[in-house]
Amino acid sequence: MVTTKEKIIAALKNREPSDQPESLADASEKGGVGKTSVTSGLIAVAAEMGLEVVGGDLDPRATLTKELGVTDPEFSINDVMYVDPEEPPTDPAELVHDALVPAGPGWPSNVRVLASERALGRRELDPTPGMELRLRRALQGLKGDVDLVILDAPPRPGGKLMGAILIAANRVLIPATLTEDGYDGAVELMRSISHIAAPGGLNPNLVVAGVVFSIVPKRGEMRDVHFHHEKAIREEFGDLVMGDPEDVYWSGEGGVLRPDGPVIRNYAIREECRTACIPITAAPGREAKRLVSSYEQVLLRSLAAKGGVA
Ligand SMILES: Nc1ncnc2c1ncn2[C@@H]1O[C@H](COP(=O)(O)OP(=O)(O)OP(=O)(O)O)[C@@H](O)[C@H]1O
Ligand SMILES: [Mg+2]
Repeated sequence: MVTTKEKIIAALKNREPSDQPESLADASEKGGVGKTSVTSGLIAVAAEMGLEVVGGDLDPRATLTKELGVTDPEFSINDVMYVDPEEPPTDPAELVHDALVPAGPGWPSNVRVLASERALGRRELDPTPGMELRLRRALQGLKGDVDLVILDAPPRPGGKLMGAILIAANRVLIPATLTEDGYDGAVELMRSISHIAAPGGLNPNLVVAGVVFSIVPKRGEMRDVHFHHEKAIREEFGDLVMGDPEDVYWSGEGGVLRPDGPVIRNYAIREECRTACIPITAAPGREAKRLVSSYEQVLLRSLAAKGGVA
């Protein structure tokens, strides 16, 4: 029997060479909600599924770039997006090949990186007409060579980099902590998405892949504030929310047992992976295994999600 997982992997691998690679952005308009960690986890499990994966870092602080083991990139997404008015026109679909570099030694060889650097921050104030469209064009240049691009967004209320992401991506996954920031970041991002994805907007086919709870505390550490925001997010986003209440309220001692559902728990091993610049799939221990299972479910649900943002 062919499982959904196998079907999704086959669909990505057997895309027509003329098709743009599938691209999934992790975004929220608030900071510290787990965007980069989710991006890194999804890249790790996609690589383990045998996909040719690219991690694209649109955050000028380059957190994902560093975690993927790339330091001081010679050529970055900034060089792909930048237009020098004194020079002849450049095609982002060609430049992107100069920017694409292998991930560091801790990562599998089927992971490559479109790195970020501090100078990317200057693009937020860049008046070049049409600059926000260059990322989409760049990803088109990867067709035939790449199965899946996963983009990490900076925490911004709109702006050009967020615009570039929402125009370039096929799908957006929204990580949300069980806090005011998790809720606000998701609600505000949906407002931006609704303009871009409206009929006649710049990316009318953009799919909201879902809202994933991230950095979820253990039951014993859940406070009223967490329960309150879980409820608020479920009320606001309905079926877009991944994971049932049983996935969130796991106690670890009897009770409902789904510690590895499509909900990203707060586990120290996640931070350890960032520091060591290794994928969660290479980390030891039970917590790492649970996170791998959760990231895998989140990735498959995100890729299976069907259109419509209304
Ligand atoms: N599942 C997790 N378990 C434990 N710690 C986590 C987990 N996810 C994220 N963290 C930690 O929480 C902090 C914020 O996470 P992360 O950097 O992924 O968020 P972000 O939304 O990308 O932040 P920013 O808006 O600054 O880019 C980091 O220190 C990260 O290591
Ligand atoms: Mg981040």
